[in-house]
Amino acid sequence: MKIAGLWSPKGGVGKTTLALNMAGSLIFNDSTLNVYIYDADPQGSTISLMELSSFPFKCIAGIPNKQNIPADADYIIVDYPPKFEAMPKPRRLVVSFQPSLIDTLAVSQGVDALNINEGERDITLVPYRVKKKGVLTRQAIDFVKEYGQEKIPVVLDREVYKQSFSEGKTVFQAKQFEGNSTWAAREEIRNINNIVFNLKEKE
Ligand SMILES: Nc1ncnc2c1ncn2[C@@H]1O[C@H](COP(=O)(O)OP(=O)(O)OP(=O)(O)O)[C@@H](O)[C@H]1O
Ligand SMILES: [Mg+2]
Repeated sequence: MKIAGLWSPKGGVGKTTLALNMAGSLIFNDSTLNVYIYDADPQGSTISLMELSSFPFKCIAGIPNKQNIPADADYIIVDYPPKFEAMPKPRRLVVSFQPSLIDTLAVSQGVDALNINEGERDITLVPYRVKKKGVLTRQAIDFVKEYGQEKIPVVLDREVYKQSFSEGKTVFQAKQFEGNSTWAAREEIRNINNIVFNLKEKE
């Protein structure tokens, strides 16, 4: 069983969108997998979305622990609230951020706090809602490089991430939106999973 968390010191940086699509991607690649999302955010976005949707995975309110993790779980993805008081436990973490100095300053503080509070972490920084090209995109990528992260999985600003949820699906299950931007969105999410869960390497 592999567990990863999505956390950020800033709100509205795609944590919930990424958590749901990461789960959708794992199941799209292997439909026998049991994937659970834990929603540690009192806002409970994944729970309310799940009630309106046909996701091929379950979203559970709360934080996973030894007592509440289903025995059949292959993957657990935890959507944390954007608060320093709610520091995440998992070693594998995705920290997404918008390409702006305000966000990168907050992320620097956040990453320091993560490492001080919990020791060794596998943090994957993800520039989110970036444009394909531009100064801010380059700055965001340079910011990640300063942390020594070799692979940088960016997520572009794409309507399809929102459109698919309006149909109750992730970009992997939303056939009606299949087109260039859906293929590209799927590739963005697969890149994140490959890095976070080491899918292409033996552990
Ligand atoms: N790649 C994207 N391109 C365009 N819009 C996006 C993308 N990802 C997410 N969004 C939109 O951005 C907003 C914030 O996304 P989301 O709710 O996933 O962030 P969050 O970090 O979970 O927010 P919160 O901190 O409130 O929990 C939502 O309106 C979502 O639909
Ligand atoms: Mg959220």
